[in-house]
Parts: sequence; structure tokens; C-alpha cells
Amino acid sequence: MTCPHAAAGAVRTYPFGDRVDLELDPAYAELRKTEPVVRVRMPYGGEAWLLTRHADVKKASADPRLSMHAGADRDVPRAAPRALDSVGLMGMPPEAHARLRRLVSRAFTARRVAGLRPRIAEITHGLIDSLVADGGPADLVQRLALPLPTAVICEMLGIPHDDRHIFRAFTEALMSASRHTEEEVAAAAEEYADYLRGYVAKRREQPEDDLLSALIEAQDEGGQLSGNELLMLVGGMLIGGHETTAGQLAGQIALLLGGDRTHWEELCARPALVPSAVEELLRIVPLWSSVGPSRVATEDIEIGGVTIRAGEAVVYSLASANRDEDVFEDAGSLVLDRAANPHLAFGQGPHFCLGAPLARAELQCALEALTTRLPTLRLAVPEGELAWHEGMLVRGLVELPVTW
Ligand code: HEM
Repeated sequence: MTCPHAAAGAVRTYPFGDRVDLELDPAYAELRKTEPVVRVRMPYGGEAWLLTRHADVKKASADPRLSMHAGADRDVPRAAPRALDSVGLMGMPPEAHARLRRLVSRAFTARRVAGLRPRIAEITHGLIDSLVADGGPADLVQRLALPLPTAVICEMLGIPHDDRHIFRAFTEALMSASRHTEEEVAAAAEEYADYLRGYVAKRREQPEDDLLSALIEAQDEGGQLSGNELLMLVGGMLIGGHETTAGQLAGQIALLLGGDRTHWEELCARPALVPSAVEELLRIVPLWSSVGPSRVATEDIEIGGVTIRAGEAVVYSLASANRDEDVFEDAGSLVLDRAANPHLAFGQGPHFCLGAPLARAELQCALEALTTRLPTLRLAVPEGELAWHEGMLVRGLVELPVTW
């Protein structure tokens, strides 16, 4: 639990409080002022340094001496039973990380994603067509927020949408902070890897015009991609490509529809605001319940006046950085036409979110379609009754009941 009066220099138990909705524990605002680089005891693996200020998080994220890879394969202090860097690009050695990022980043450039936009809009409108046909009230998590990014990443990669229960089950286990034991997460990981191996083998025999086939070809050409790397990449993109965006989209809509719906009405009246509104919503809607992947210092470094010793772990609160009053005027308020918005919702530096252009396109398409087609949209339950997932690494609504 939070101890707002803990003495400076004391080790605090992390996470603070148990907020899983859109709010942050008040301890973050306090720490930004009094002790922005603070020692915390993590739920797994021991003590780490927690960074809460925008300037420190930004600087540290770009510093290669703070390495996710250095924490891989050890009991690194962390927020979840299984280190997040155990899947995908994040925990790879720096050389392999850079090589693989180069290989896949071509698929996620702003230009490539602009080409996908008509298809993203088509999927969005298809989901809204069936929502309208069935009538309200309806749950927007199951009817839009989850199926939209899931369908898009499946199509991009060439994974059948009908197999989504398999990667949903593993995603749920991997993203668990306290719902599953380490053994359960490991068993789910094994099942997921088996599925991916089988699917890659099938696709190798029957290539298609998709990212998975392109990656298999790159692997077969030799030297660029090992079998295990291919699995890690595809597995990571499949998970990163839907869970985060789904949580964001539902959280963003809930925030817009909350209170007296002024923000929603503002967006309906000024559709040109959608791109800047999405950036502002990304800033305010927290991704992680507490923190994302941990880093380990590979040598002594100084952050915010504190010396972090080689071998010590560091975690960042992106949500706290995104509400830093030194960077954002009126930081706690949603300002849909905020002019400068250097938020860190997609991270920074070598691990900057690969899928940021895709996520932005999906969020923008969804808000454009909803505000133009369903301007009377409103919550079907009182805001205070919305249920948020407990014990998960990323924040997310269990359901988003709406009507129109
Ligand atoms: C709104 C939705 C999303 C948010 C808020 C988000 C956020 C993030 C953040 C904060 C990181 C960096 C973590 C760190 O440095 O600690 C990250 C990395 C990553 N994201 Fe996203 N993400 C989103 C959507 C996506 C999508 C759609 C994809 C599609 C493939 C994706 C793929 C990745 C990958 C592969 C990485 C690891 C990059 C690396 O280690 O080089 N993300 N994301």
C-alpha cells in the first residue's frame, strides 16, 4: 500500500495502492516533487529504482546502458511473474534486437500504415454495422475495442482470426501481474510456442502475401533470422499488436463518455480534432497498471542526481511521466486540442513502440467512425460501476456497456 509519508531514502513497497482504472495513485505526484528516483521493493525479484519524472524517464529510455536484455534470464526485480522481455523483441541482445527491428520495421512505417488505413476503416465500419444491426445496449470491449486490433494484426501477419483464442489465452497469462502463478504462465507459453511452430511450418509450405511469409522467406534466405527469433518476433507482435490497443481504445472511449460527456460532444462537433485527441488520450489513459519491462544498468550511471550502480534494476512509470506538471500545463486535465504533446505513451529510444503508427491509425479510425456514426453514444451504466481488470499488468475494462 502507499505510504505517502515514507521518509526520503526509504524503500517503498511497489506498486502503490491498487488503482486499476484511469487514475494514478497520488504517491506519483508527490514523488515527482520530492523523490523522483526512488527505491522500491517490486512484487518479484527484489528492489529496483523507480523513475517518475518525464525528463528522467525520457533520458533513461534512450540510454543503452540501461538494458532489458541484461535482466533477461535472471530473477530481475519486476512487476509480473514472467518478465515481459521474455517474449518478442524486447529482451533480445542489442545486436539481434537492432537486426530484427530493421527487418520488421519496414512493415510498420507511417507510409506502410497509411496504405493499410482503408482496410482498417473497413474493418472498423464492419464492426459498427453489426453493432448497429443488433442494437444497444452493447459491450464495446467485445464489439470493437478487442476485435479491431486483433483482426488487423492477424491480417497483417497472416494468422487466422479464428485461432485468436490461442493467443488470447497466452496474452492473458503473460499480462497477469498476480492472477496466475509462474508455472501457469510457463505452461501457457509452451502451448503458445507449439501453436506458432505448427503454424509457421504450415505457412512455409504455403506462403501468402503477408508479413509471416515475408519473415519466413527472410529466414530461409539464411543468416538473418533464426527459427527461434522468428517465433519470438511473430509471437511478440501478435500480443503487442492487440492487447495494448484494445485496452487503450476502451479506456479512451470510457474517458470521453464519462462525466457530462463534454469531451465526447466536443469531438463529435470538431472531427478534425481526432488526431490530437488521440495523442492526448494516449497521454492520459495509462497503459500499465504499474510499470512495464525492467531494465538493468550495465555500468554505474547517474539519473536525476542519483547514482544507479551496475547490476541494479530500473523501472519507469510512463503514466507518471505523462502527467508531469513540468512538461504538461494542466497535466491532470484532458485537453483535446493540446498543441505540444511530447507524451511517452509509446516509450522512447531503442525500444520505442514498433507498432505506434498502426496503433494510432486504429485509434483514429475507431474514434472517427464512432463520433460520425453514433454521436448519441453514451455509457449504459453509471461511470462508477465500470469494472476494470484486477491483477493484470495492463489496465483494461472488463466490459464497456454503451447505448446510443
Ligand atoms: C495504443 C497501443 C500501444 C501502446 C500504448 C504501446 C506501447 C508500447 C510501449 C510503451 C513500448 C515500449 C516499452 C518499453 O520501452 O518499456 C512498446 C513496445 C513495443 N510495441 Fe507497442 N504499444 C501499442 C501498440 C502496439 C502495436 C499495435 C504493435 C504491433 C505490432 C506493438 C508492438 C510493439 C513492439 C514489437 C514493441 C517492442 C519494441 C522493441 O523492443 O524494440 N505495439 N509498445
